[in-house]
Amino acid sequence: MNTNSTYVANTHRYDASNVLYARCGHSGVLLPRVSLGFWHNFGGNDPFERSRAITRYAFDHGITHFDLANNYGPPYGSAEETLGRLMDEDFRTYRDELFIATKAGYDMWPGPYGNWGSRKYLMASLDQSLRRMRLNYVDLYYSHRYDPATPLEETLQALVDIVRAGKALYIGISRWPLVALKRANEYLRERDVPLLIYQGRLNLLDREPMDDGILDYCYDNGIGFIAFSPLAQGLLTDRYLNGIPKDSRMAQGRFLKEERLTPELMQYLMKLKADADATGQSMAERALRWVLEQRGITSVLVGASSTEQLAKNLCCLSE
Ligand SMILES: NC(=O)c1ccc[n+]([C@@H]2O[C@H](COP(=O)([O-])OP(=O)(O)OC[C@H]3O[C@@H](n4cnc5c(N)ncnc54)[C@H](OP(=O)(O)O)[C@@H]3O)[C@@H](O)[C@H]2O)c1
Repeated sequence: MNTNSTYVANTHRYDASNVLYARCGHSGVLLPRVSLGFWHNFGGNDPFERSRAITRYAFDHGITHFDLANNYGPPYGSAEETLGRLMDEDFRTYRDELFIATKAGYDMWPGPYGNWGSRKYLMASLDQSLRRMRLNYVDLYYSHRYDPATPLEETLQALVDIVRAGKALYIGISRWPLVALKRANEYLRERDVPLLIYQGRLNLLDREPMDDGILDYCYDNGIGFIAFSPLAQGLLTDRYLNGIPKDSRMAQGRFLKEERLTPELMQYLMKLKADADATGQSMAERALRWVLEQRGITSVLVGASSTEQLAKNLCCLSE
């Protein structure tokens, strides 16, 4: 599809706002219950027009929250560059309708300052991200992972200072263990930069943030929770019911391995399909609804390699 013409957003994009948005913890921010992730399908090796079509489709349907990280691609940084180009070509007029997040915490550039949680890394990385995304500020900046070797206070104070400098409006953390989450919540609250949101993996096959008490802690303390990989990278859809499609994430063999398709999992997926069929839903819809029904979930953060997938996933919001 050629989408390379002047973009005018769908005027009906907020019509379903009663089901589209949820308050993020005890904050002033409403996030779409389905948000769009740029981890896959937005890199320098992906067709730009497809990335553009997915992003336009998302925004046209009220998805105002895009989730990125410094090293999404490949190559690293290229998903942010894709967003930067989209900002210039399509979305500049809509900047104030968008809630854009990025992160730092994983391997990004060589040497001792391009990884983990030091002040040096978080500050430099955000400046780079802003340049790539062609933005003056991000709405949300995350520590992408807990760094056991850096004093917690150093990472957290860097985040506070980033907000004070106007480079991010809100702060989030991703994949931090419960004990560190508690300390972060206290530290940030004492400095009047409350923790907006926690990002963790949660889906029918992986309930760690529930088992570890993270979801309950967030709910009890007014912190939002956004669930990444809610479809277990595509496992919880019909994608792998009849083998491994050539254009699938599993066929790339990087983040989703063939070994995941055990006989036990296939049996589970067939049962999920039967349950979905019985209620007239797709497997993806059923899996997303399950996540959204858990107490304390603000949003499910989905990936999509086509507008059709995203369209199917949005069915989880229909009443
Ligand atoms: N904080 C962290 O550490 C962290 C880690 C991972 C992800 N994330 C964030 O979470 C976002 C989502 O993660 P994810 O991409 O793993 O999410 P996901 O929604 O579980 O998986 C997305 C993949 O599932 C397949 N899919 C999606 N909808 C489908 C449908 N309706 N029918 C069939 N297949 C479908 C597609 O795979 P195919 O490519 O095979 O079509 C798609 O790329 C990321 O983009 C990123 O922003 C954060």
